[in-house]
Amino acid sequence: MKFFVDTADTSEIKELADAGLIDGVTTNPSLVAKSGRKFSDVIAEICDLTSGHVSAEVVATEYQAMVNEGRTLQKIASNVAVKLPLTMDGLKACRTLANEGTAVNVTLCFSANQALLAAKAGATYISPFIGRLDDLNIDGMELIEDIRTIYDNYMFETQILAASIRGPNHVKESALAGADVATVPPAVLRSLINHPLTDKGLAAFLADAQKAGVTI
Ligand code: G3P
Repeated sequence: MKFFVDTADTSEIKELADAGLIDGVTTNPSLVAKSGRKFSDVIAEICDLTSGHVSAEVVATEYQAMVNEGRTLQKIASNVAVKLPLTMDGLKACRTLANEGTAVNVTLCFSANQALLAAKAGATYISPFIGRLDDLNIDGMELIEDIRTIYDNYMFETQILAASIRGPNHVKESALAGADVATVPPAVLRSLINHPLTDKGLAAFLADAQKAGVTI
């Protein structure tokens, strides 16, 4: 499973990319707004920090304007994946941009039928929002499982990009369900590394080595 980091904070992205922990980045209008920076500047900087896809979302809602914005975003860098919402106009724009060879991430997916339509529209990625379904006491992971089954049934190449991830269990369960990518907030990504028994075991190893005067 590929790990994308879900942020527009370039210092976070640089640190995680330098550690070799990420395969790409996802942003959305809320995350870019939070950065307080010009949209094109922050996306261009992020695209320089990773060779993987960087999702940049349109803010238009009508078909032609979405296509125009998508073409503008594509010109920022070759690793831009244009993010489009799962609406009728978004699906039409997905088909147009996919036909032009543009990578498209169809986002705000909350049902298997929506994911089926996105695959038929030529989406490179589909972003089912696990956490927001869980917030409504609906099993977000079941959606990932259903999409995986449907995509495998018809050999769709659209990649399942598990999104709206709230913690480490969502990452593990997404991997078990066969998601192709998980886009993870920086803090959650870092938390995957930690385990108290690892810390305890390392401390014991080092104490024993020091006591015995071990040097390498
Ligand atoms: O990429 C989508 C993700 O940013 C949404 O996460 O926590 O706002 O549901 P969240």
